[in-house]
Amino acid sequence: MSDKPRRSRAWFGAEGSHGFIPRSWMKSQGHPSHMFDGRPVIGIANTFSDLTPCNGHLRQLAEFVKRGVYEAGGFPLEFPVFSPGESNLRPTTMLFRNLASMDAECAIRGNPMDGVVLLAGCDKTTPSLLMGAASVDLPTILLSGGPMLNAWDGRKRMGSGTFVSQSVQKLQAGTMTQAQFDAAEAALSRSAGSCMTMGTASTMASLVEGMGLALPDNAALPAVDARRQALAHLTGMRAVELVKQDIRMSRFLTRRHFENAILLNGALGGSTNAVVHLLALAGRAGVELSLDDWDRLGRDMPCLVDLMPSGQFLMEDFCYAGGVPAVLKALLPRLHGGTETVAGRSLAELCEEAPEPDGEVIRPLHDPFKPQGGIAVLRGNLAPQGAIIKPSAASPALMRHTGPAVTFEDIEDFNARIDDPDLPVTADSVLVLKNCGPRGYPGMPEVGNTRLPAKLARQGVTDMVRLSDARMSGTAYGTVVLHIAPESAAGGPLGLVETGDLITLDVEARKLELHVDEATLAARRAARPPFASPYARGYEKLYVEHVLGAERGVDFDFLVGRTEDRPLRGSH
Ligand code: FES
Repeated sequence: MSDKPRRSRAWFGAEGSHGFIPRSWMKSQGHPSHMFDGRPVIGIANTFSDLTPCNGHLRQLAEFVKRGVYEAGGFPLEFPVFSPGESNLRPTTMLFRNLASMDAECAIRGNPMDGVVLLAGCDKTTPSLLMGAASVDLPTILLSGGPMLNAWDGRKRMGSGTFVSQSVQKLQAGTMTQAQFDAAEAALSRSAGSCMTMGTASTMASLVEGMGLALPDNAALPAVDARRQALAHLTGMRAVELVKQDIRMSRFLTRRHFENAILLNGALGGSTNAVVHLLALAGRAGVELSLDDWDRLGRDMPCLVDLMPSGQFLMEDFCYAGGVPAVLKALLPRLHGGTETVAGRSLAELCEEAPEPDGEVIRPLHDPFKPQGGIAVLRGNLAPQGAIIKPSAASPALMRHTGPAVTFEDIEDFNARIDDPDLPVTADSVLVLKNCGPRGYPGMPEVGNTRLPAKLARQGVTDMVRLSDARMSGTAYGTVVLHIAPESAAGGPLGLVETGDLITLDVEARKLELHVDEATLAARRAARPPFASPYARGYEKLYVEHVLGAERGVDFDFLVGRTEDRPLRGSH
């Protein structure tokens, strides 16, 4: 038990108007006086929104967190945080991840709370809450909303996002009817919860669990499973205990915790988006982490999990197969087992109670699902500061490929020309998409897994090498090189590529090379107009002026670095 004074006492324990005002106004909500007696005050940061359907059930889940907080002798106070919802928010949720993190940081720091439960579920809500909370560093625990139930097309599984990309291609190729497409739309999202593939939402929920920032089973229990409500209750109880022992979030944000997360991401065949989110979180925590760590740790990490988009199963199957605890148990020889967790036990101790991998959905280390699960980091004259590819989602035949570029200046140019019957493109071409990075779009949208030219899709082509400074959805697949840095809008060589230039991708050698001599590139660079942001005001202006590159996690330059919780001035 910590004997440090609780920060909520600066509000609820204060004398005169400094205490009268916060207590009296809180009592308007029916809280009796003894709630202000010094018990741990637990904030519940809720990213509920009708416009973020994956988080639409979080208000109900918050009630179970409150039960746990009350049972453990705490005082729960729920508050809203801006909720970037992947399926609705335009132009891209990534533009608003940092905004949501600033909202979370200010709400946590500025209000009377001793600890915080983070309620998240959609792709950006998890990293934004983590980043904001890390910048305050109170005792913190995260609870995910959980994935949707499996979706079915007859007896065939349909995976969120993954099925959509496959269906669009089939519709283009004429092997799927519009009626079948419409029926799938109604059946795909059949319950509350986040995307049920190993997309970004499930990846982040899993990595949070692996880092020890959430209780075991956080990632895989379906959103509608009563055991998730029980987990919410237990999470509330643990939050109170973390405050009593003054165990702060930074205890679970050491370099070793990040290394475990990178290894786990490889074993899961997790989303490429985890790269930017973990780099940004490490930046907030003051932990040195780089793209090279991703390559080094992921290089010989096999993928153990047979889940879409790399495999065939879905998160509900993953739950029945043992979920993240079973993967961690299989991986334990490769992990830092001594890392602490919010459960109050080390990772290795938690693994003692975890189930063995079932051998089908979750495979053991000696018999993996795919030999390469990690993220490969490419470098070369086309990506001096790095680029990434997810080998487990790529076509083996294209992992070493040289072909002529077909370039597009931005996504609008791509959409306008990709299906032009006269486009000079073959299955060997390399599709190059520019100006979709953090500054250039702005917001680094998930457009990197561009669709294939309709004329090639009709010929049966299912994959091509594609390059961009964009991201791709965690539910997507293909031989897609992403996050090329520096981005085109920051003067990166990607902006200098012209149609017909030869490009070599060699994943084994970690190379991405543009076969154009330096003098030609210099001439093209000199002729290229400098990037001019179209934004003269508002959040977008701030974003373009301060966003860092993909290799640094796309955070704002002024948010990087550790900030301690600090006493605040009062104004009453
Ligand atoms: Fe929210 Fe996929 S759209 S988790």
